[in-house]
Amino acid sequence: MAGTQDYKLGSHIFPRGWFMIGDASKMGAEPTTVHFFGKDMVFYRGASGKAHLVHAYCPHMGAHLGRNNTSYIVRDNERVEGEAIRCPFHGWRFNETGQCDDIPYSPDFIPKAACLKTYTVIERAGAIWMWHDPEDGAPTHDLPAFDCWDKEEEGWVRWVMDDFGILDLHPLEIVDNMADFGHMTPIHGSRDLVYFDNSFEDHVCVQRFDAGHRTLTGNGAEVLSLDTWYEGPSILQAKMYGAHPSHMLIAHTPIEDGRVQVWHALMVKLPFDAPQEERVATARAYQKTSFDAFAQDVDIWSNKEACFNPMQIPADGPYGKVRIWYRQFYNPRAEAETFQKRVNGTVVTYGTERPAELVEA
Ligand code: FES
Ligand SMILES: [Fe+2]
Repeated sequence: MAGTQDYKLGSHIFPRGWFMIGDASKMGAEPTTVHFFGKDMVFYRGASGKAHLVHAYCPHMGAHLGRNNTSYIVRDNERVEGEAIRCPFHGWRFNETGQCDDIPYSPDFIPKAACLKTYTVIERAGAIWMWHDPEDGAPTHDLPAFDCWDKEEEGWVRWVMDDFGILDLHPLEIVDNMADFGHMTPIHGSRDLVYFDNSFEDHVCVQRFDAGHRTLTGNGAEVLSLDTWYEGPSILQAKMYGAHPSHMLIAHTPIEDGRVQVWHALMVKLPFDAPQEERVATARAYQKTSFDAFAQDVDIWSNKEACFNPMQIPADGPYGKVRIWYRQFYNPRAEAETFQKRVNGTVVTYGTERPAELVEA
């Protein structure tokens, strides 16, 4: 498994940013163990339903807060109280800031140092997201809004998460796709290419692509236009202007160095001229086409060897720049600007002008 050091990305093994850690519909109230960034964490929902994520091991004597089936605290369903979580070993309870606020057998003395590490976590657009930072700092940018999620009255049908499972792949190889002009025809079936560029603006990397397609164009729409962008190292969104307007998500989160979990989802904007079940069925079928297109990338990634240094030719997109942009997340936040300054701007790989009028159609 090739790791971060092999790709010479920086001093942090795991990047700084917002990361998906699960499908919200599958994350219930019971404390459950999640394993990302090489470590166990425990997810639970408080009485209000609010999502919480904490370090897995109790500061008292190291018991695992998520892995126990036999303690009476677990059997008696006493692990979650209000927004707090109780350890199965000696019953110490930690409030939502992580501070211990109850030791059942020590009503008068609670050590100040009895504090459990908590992580910033947000439930949004059907997923649970965490802020990961090797320097333990506050978020340097906001979690994306995924705004179509809240636009059902405008016709948007919400996505459901597709779990692509775990790939033995460094996430850099997924991010490379942003510059990968050359794979569009063999992998994704593009034809009659019109335009391809990338732009970099601090923590955001954008790809704009216009082309015909083997199956997705025709019937008057000859060009499919895609705006694809990363906000931070792991959250890709794309707006596709094809048969229906759609909003795609690809999220990937390191589990260990060189191993990622990957999710995909698609929201679709449909007219209100059909019953809701039909609209949902159409949206799911459209999501499946997007799933199949992404599966073509995953098929390559699942079987390739690591590429430490792409043999970039002039007709390729700017892999080198994408990799420099990506390094900002693997280095101390104070150094991020150095990487941003090296790449900020636009690189046009193919064509001269974007068919802007088609984008708005
Ligand atoms: S180890 Fe958690 S309360 Fe003792
Ligand atoms: Fe791709």
